[in-house]
Amino acid sequence: MNTIDSDAERLLDTETSPDSGPAASPATPIPLPTALALPAPQRPVVAEVAVSAASPSHEPAAASSPAPAPSSTPAPSAAPTPSVPPRVLVLANQKGGVGKTTTAINLGTALAAIGERVLIVDLDPQGNASTGLGIGYKDRARSTYDVLIGTAALREAIRETAVPRLHIAPSTIDLSGFELEVANERDRAFRLRSALAALNGAVDPAHHYGYVLVDCPPSLNVVTVNAMAAADAILVPLQCEFFALEGLSQLLKTVEQVKTTLNPGLSIHGVVLTMYDRRNKLAGQVVTDVRSFMGDKVYQTIIPRNVRVSEAPSYGKPVLLYDLKCVGSQAYLKLASEIIQREKQLRAAA
Ligand SMILES: Nc1ncnc2c1ncn2[C@@H]1O[C@H](COP(=O)(O)OP(=O)(O)OP(=O)(O)O)[C@@H](O)[C@H]1O
Ligand SMILES: [Mg+2]
Repeated sequence: MNTIDSDAERLLDTETSPDSGPAASPATPIPLPTALALPAPQRPVVAEVAVSAASPSHEPAAASSPAPAPSSTPAPSAAPTPSVPPRVLVLANQKGGVGKTTTAINLGTALAAIGERVLIVDLDPQGNASTGLGIGYKDRARSTYDVLIGTAALREAIRETAVPRLHIAPSTIDLSGFELEVANERDRAFRLRSALAALNGAVDPAHHYGYVLVDCPPSLNVVTVNAMAAADAILVPLQCEFFALEGLSQLLKTVEQVKTTLNPGLSIHGVVLTMYDRRNKLAGQVVTDVRSFMGDKVYQTIIPRNVRVSEAPSYGKPVLLYDLKCVGSQAYLKLASEIIQREKQLRAAA
């Protein structure tokens, strides 16, 4: 077994007990710099869920000039083949400040650390995922707005990050005008799906990914619907606070609507409880309530409230680069291993 296999196995073997509490860490923390320096896996861990062949005809405009290949891009031979589409997971909750962006950044980093090739698509005009991954405004000449509006291909917007194998398509405030601009366009809900299909069909393996994580804005608007129409599954961050369940029914209803009208394959991948504070009795009650409402859709891993997690974005870094050993980093590594396990189960059941 090579190094990456043993590192990944170590993560995957980590027990995730409901009783272990959110601060519990894998027995042996992965030395991230080593893990991140590893080559991409020979076989992607992801399930193959094809982006619908019946996608609407809208395609983003052809690139005016090819985007430069990121310097840390692994050798083409190590990348997944075009015939295996990425697993598209969308982080959605119309409630603000629940941990969508923090989870996109740090789950993406943890998956990359395990060896996956990951693309984060920033679909929030606030651009917090882009800033949190150190992408300055001058590096956002092409953004997800250009992609959705059809003036750039997704590959033109993609930037590398400080984390090997983790790329991002950044966003800008322009995205806030998207809804009005496409109000009369029939294919307005399918822009992201088309862009991802074009990316996956491209010959350049530098832009083939095992996972695409889409960070949504805190609303159920046409941008979020684009994400849901392109998704294989939704990942719902819920903050461990009194109003945690408020709005969840509305979100689930929207997911159902998208499923019946736009994307029959859509499912809820899981609910991740965030910002858990063990000193707060109410937080424990929220965990119990959410588990009784959503059952085993709730991941065993709970993300603790941790000051290192909230400090990291101001340095333009994921918390796993900022402080690998803190409980927040360890929780996100654990969540990544749980998600990969869940993916394996979904594949086995398919
Ligand atoms: N585990 C955590 N511990 C401490 N602070 C956290 C944690 N997770 C998130 N935060 C902080 O909570 C705030 C909201 O998090 P985040 O931006 O990820 O939420 P969001 O759902 O993306 O928000 P929005 O709806 O505005 O996009 C941020 O300041 C973030 O740093
Ligand atoms: Mg956000």
